[in-house]
Amino acid sequence: MTPDGPRQGEGNCPLPLFDAPTPLAEQGSCQRPPPLPLGALVTGATGPIGRALVLAFARAGHFVGVHYHSDEPTARELLGQVESSGGRGVLLAGDLRDPDAAGRALATFLDAHPTIDVLVNNAGLSRDRLLVFVEPAEWREVLSANLDTAYTLTRAALRPMVARRKGSIVNVSSVSALSGLPGQSAYAAAKAGLLGFTRALAREVGRYGVRVNAIAPGAIESPAVDRLAPDRQEHLRVAACLERFGRPEEVAQVALFLGSDAASFITGQVLPVDGGASS
Ligand SMILES: NC(=O)c1ccc[n+]([C@@H]2O[C@H](COP(=O)([O-])OP(=O)(O)OC[C@H]3O[C@@H](n4cnc5c(N)ncnc54)[C@H](OP(=O)(O)O)[C@@H]3O)[C@@H](O)[C@H]2O)c1
Repeated sequence: MTPDGPRQGEGNCPLPLFDAPTPLAEQGSCQRPPPLPLGALVTGATGPIGRALVLAFARAGHFVGVHYHSDEPTARELLGQVESSGGRGVLLAGDLRDPDAAGRALATFLDAHPTIDVLVNNAGLSRDRLLVFVEPAEWREVLSANLDTAYTLTRAALRPMVARRKGSIVNVSSVSALSGLPGQSAYAAAKAGLLGFTRALAREVGRYGVRVNAIAPGAIESPAVDRLAPDRQEHLRVAACLERFGRPEEVAQVALFLGSDAASFITGQVLPVDGGASS
């Protein structure tokens, strides 16, 4: 017995042999509070991949951070969908190229939920154009929207993750980082930068129990792919061994796996989710 009551294995409290849930009626004075849900923050949640990520983490029981930059109505509607299915989450706003905005987004998340267990750096943009037509401002825009956004929020989130010796970061890169596509030099440079970032950071923080991985989606059913010329779409479709576009949910399931303890010995890796396009 301790001043606070019986310890596990003392008095009426048997040591649990397995983690199987004990029926409530048998719990008596040993009743433990339900475990805290894990916290997952998804950036760029207004696009199809971000939406699928939020819904997948919410369905798996996570408290979700639903981040948007400019499209508040879509983010609010998505959070409403999570809540109407019994999930919980919080809206986070901000241009994540700005470190102060990233700090504020993380603070809002941690005010609403005490832990950040998974960070999915999904925010990004592409501007397809042959390099000779890419003006310096556009080059910087693409690099910063894909790279700076990951840098700022990761830097902020590492402190609480390292303090808890627990965390998983998933960076959403692109197949474009693995096999070049014409018109995507800026985007490919940014997404390949994200892979270098992933590998170096994994080495930096592995000893603190934090894992860092990347996924490289191929062409996914989305407005970004719809906007491509029909011949370009067909080229991308047949480039995949599966000869189809991926679904946002197929990307989300891989992020969910990498974010979970099922991937507890995986870090510094890039997982293509591209139907075999980069194989
Ligand atoms: N679609 C594909 O086929 C495909 C393939 C490979 C990789 N990817 C990558 O997967 C991710 C999601 O793709 P998607 O097609 O779903 O994207 P999307 O519809 O273009 O959405 C991009 C998201 O990023 C946010 N964002 C853009 N600039 C930002 C900034 N400066 N700060 C904070 N957030 C910013 C946007 O916020 P607001 O809308 O609120 O402004 C939006 O939520 C992207 O990183 C993309 O590069 C996509």
